[in-house]
Amino acid sequence: MPVDLLDLNRIPRHIACVMDGNGRWAQTRGLPRTEGHRAGEHSLFEVVDASLEIGVEWLTVFAFSTENWRRPRDEVRFLINFNEEILVRRRDELNERGVRIRFVGRRDWRVPKRLIRRMDEASGLTAKNRTLTFTIAFNYGGRAEIVDAVRRIAASGVAPEKITETTIARNLYDPEMPDPDLVIRTSGEYRISNFLLWELAYSELVFTDTPWPEFQRREFFAAIREFQDRDRRFGGVDGGD
Ligand code: FPP
Repeated sequence: MPVDLLDLNRIPRHIACVMDGNGRWAQTRGLPRTEGHRAGEHSLFEVVDASLEIGVEWLTVFAFSTENWRRPRDEVRFLINFNEEILVRRRDELNERGVRIRFVGRRDWRVPKRLIRRMDEASGLTAKNRTLTFTIAFNYGGRAEIVDAVRRIAASGVAPEKITETTIARNLYDPEMPDPDLVIRTSGEYRISNFLLWELAYSELVFTDTPWPEFQRREFFAAIREFQDRDRRFGGVDGGD
């Protein structure tokens, strides 16, 4: 799907991706699952490049979930080290291209201190950039995010009847993050798997059978084209105000 088939006036402002299928992609090739994650880095940066090219403002990816700790110890260790390595290896190039790196997820639970330091370095280095905000969901769970928001609200002592949707939205991990317009999940799984539960209330969901390591620029543009062919009504009716 070439870029010229996209309507450049209707590019989703915020796209979120569940980068699924790395392990299965590797296994069907007789490779260790970790090789699938390595191959996934290429896809991730194709998607970052393509987002910069067409003017996506916010891109969020699910890099490690609160449930991923249940994987075999070696894979967990690999994913933590791999995320750290990518941050260190790619942060300067992302910074030069105007990308602002941010993180959502539980920081104070299980994440090694060294990785937290790397995350803070990457977000500090790129904090002033505005071209694309690239949010990495690490140790992230949608329910955990809502629990953490509710805890903060309860601790603030606000009266229950004063709590609105806005109160909750303002207490999420990144209150500035707009809700995703489009959520893409690769590899033929038709689930949300605890990703951005609050934020995706009105998102368009696009599922593709392509495993993440094969999800390249043309597949990304095809998902955006599918989004552009849909009719978003946000609970209203066509032609209504
Ligand atoms: C899901 O595939 C993918 C992951 C658990 C992690 C993918 C992580 C990266 C590509 C690196 C991201 C790094 C940064 C810094 C953003 P899976 O293992 O669940 O695949 P399966 O469903 O086939 O088992």
